[in-house]
Amino acid sequence: MRFKDKLNMIDQNNIKKFEVTSDELYDLLQKKESLLLFDLRLQETYNAGHINGAVHAVCDVRTKDTIMPKIPKNIKLILIDDDGIMSEETTKMMRSFGLDAHYLQGGMKSWHKEVIEGNPTATIKPDDLWKKLQNPKLFLLDVRDADEFSDFKIPGSVNISLKDLFKPENISKIPKDKEIVTVCPHGNRAMVATFALARNGIKSNVLEGGLAGWSQVLNAVKVAENPTVIQVEKVGKGCLSHIVISGDEAIVIDPLYPPEKYLEIAKQENVKITKIIDTHQHADHVSAAPELANMSGSLVYESNLEVWDRTSNFLDDGQIMTFGTSKIRVIHTPGHTPGSLSYVVNEKYVFTGDILFIESIGRPDLRDNAEEFAEQLYNSLHSKLLNLPLDTIVFPTHHGIFVIPENRVYSTTIEKAKKHNVLTLSKEEFVKQVVSVTVPRPMNYQKIIQINKGSMPLVKTDIPDLELGPNRCSITGE
Ligand SMILES: [Fe+2]
Repeated sequence: MRFKDKLNMIDQNNIKKFEVTSDELYDLLQKKESLLLFDLRLQETYNAGHINGAVHAVCDVRTKDTIMPKIPKNIKLILIDDDGIMSEETTKMMRSFGLDAHYLQGGMKSWHKEVIEGNPTATIKPDDLWKKLQNPKLFLLDVRDADEFSDFKIPGSVNISLKDLFKPENISKIPKDKEIVTVCPHGNRAMVATFALARNGIKSNVLEGGLAGWSQVLNAVKVAENPTVIQVEKVGKGCLSHIVISGDEAIVIDPLYPPEKYLEIAKQENVKITKIIDTHQHADHVSAAPELANMSGSLVYESNLEVWDRTSNFLDDGQIMTFGTSKIRVIHTPGHTPGSLSYVVNEKYVFTGDILFIESIGRPDLRDNAEEFAEQLYNSLHSKLLNLPLDTIVFPTHHGIFVIPENRVYSTTIEKAKKHNVLTLSKEEFVKQVVSVTVPRPMNYQKIIQINKGSMPLVKTDIPDLELGPNRCSITGE
């Protein structure tokens, strides 16, 4: 049956059956009946005074498509607005989706009992969650559906979907002695979960901005000396970027959003950022190189062998650059992208972008022509990178979720990398294995490439959503 037909079935007389008077609602709340109260008024109006236990809900096209299907059908919903008019219409619409929706007759104008001021939704910022992630007293409750959870999650989180959260057997799985954080893509479902838990006497916090917010957390660790290397990780995605310091100069390789982090580090280290360098045109994250260059008054350097729709300072194979007392040698290492570059600093470190990882290698199929790219990848690895001295330290631009860093450092050496199974294969076997990669491509990768290339303008507020999900730039999904 079409949506419009379903909606027409709930006619004006029928809908009155789903009215709840303010006295009836008061009784239901006194009896602690299992129900969800959605307050549809403006946020400010809600903050000025709402019924205790009501969650502020936005009813727009996005919530209709994304949240409504996730709301359990077996729980009574009561919608609240100013006068009952909009909530009556929304009840009709929700019932057509099979939800047990009702509405407060006459809205808040009919409610003469106590109201609560402010926004009671307790939230935790993604940066604060990162700081306490190892705390055993933390319980991360991911309320997305099982298929969403299996695709991408915060390590250590437990999945009970919003639909299943209302089942008593699931409520009993939630520990009472831990700090509970509810997680979903943007914080909407998690907020409903937090209110549902509160009605069961369980306190919890919503992860602010959800997994999209989580995907923007950056963590910095000093990982090498002489010259100093600071590894900056986008913890929700496993993307790695690096600051290399020599004298009073710093270069940043593959900077991530938000770029303010690098300025903060440069200030702490009392150095000036002079060069921003990307290893390749990224497909899994938006490069912060142009913006960081503007903010720091430095120059962006990128591969002359990729196709760009914007100006830059272009680098070629074999070029040498200096910073402080150090040298950067550019090596063209195609295979992941046509113009991928690796950077050798002082013949001691090599920054390999998405060509060589700690436990894997880059995937060649993000721009199609996988076979041709796989051959190039083989040559880049065997004729170039693996010919570097065995003790050269390799700093890649990603790590996999299962890679455990040694002393919090995500790196390897050429000696260790040579032992990757895939790097012991003949060229023919290598190409066959690499082109058969079945790891799904990163979400939004085409749009991200267009932005990084300069063909599409960047709307900064879109970044968390664009980058949501695993990075998937390696052949194993690393
Ligand atoms: Fe990449």
